[in-house]
Amino acid sequence: MLKKTISVLLASSALFAGDVLYSVKDKPVYSDATSTKVIGKLLPTNAIEVLVEEGERVKFKLKGYQNPTAPNVIYFTDKARIFSLAFAKTATPDIKVDVKGENGKWNSVSVEAYTTKGDFENKMEPMMERASKLYSDNCSICHTLNTVDHFTANQWPSTFRAMLDRTPIQKEDVWLVIEYLQKNASDMKK
Ligand code: HEC
Repeated sequence: MLKKTISVLLASSALFAGDVLYSVKDKPVYSDATSTKVIGKLLPTNAIEVLVEEGERVKFKLKGYQNPTAPNVIYFTDKARIFSLAFAKTATPDIKVDVKGENGKWNSVSVEAYTTKGDFENKMEPMMERASKLYSDNCSICHTLNTVDHFTANQWPSTFRAMLDRTPIQKEDVWLVIEYLQKNASDMKK
């Protein structure tokens, strides 16, 4: 009986090639399956595709946008500075340009890299709901809560961080809330 329960749990935590997952927190990014040198940070709520599981790591693919003047940051959109994956300035990541941006537009790119296996969920809605609640619970303590679309995606990070110290929001949730605010900002509405 006990044995059965354990195997079910293990099976449900395994990652499969082709799975689309979203990280709940910012996660370390590596260039391969074993190196301990962190070359970047994968931000929460961004979709990755699992390529292969290798030991404690997972090789993944992520699609996004690249501003040619800051090539080591992969953005969620070509309209605003919403980070999906930020590589260190000195890193030499394997970024492939899928569509070159014309006339100053950003490139459409994909990148392959490695991260740890934990802290992924297969649905984005529950983590966005949690972020929404963190925002509304904590940012309405002293004054009226601004609607999320009161600011643009580029305004949110500094606006939020300026007030962060006044709230009990945990460090590990900061990026989750920032991504939530940016992705629901006034200029991100469809
Ligand atoms: C402990 C009380 C407190 C909490 C909690 C709080 N604020 Fe504020 N907020 C203030 C006060 C007081 C001001 C007035 C300006 C100042 O003191 O900086 C303010 C001003 C603001 C402004 C206007 C800033 C400006 O420059 O006019 C925004 C936007 C804002 N808060 C957003 C937030 C957000 C987002 C959160 C949650 C992360 C938050 N606040 C949490 C007290 C708080």
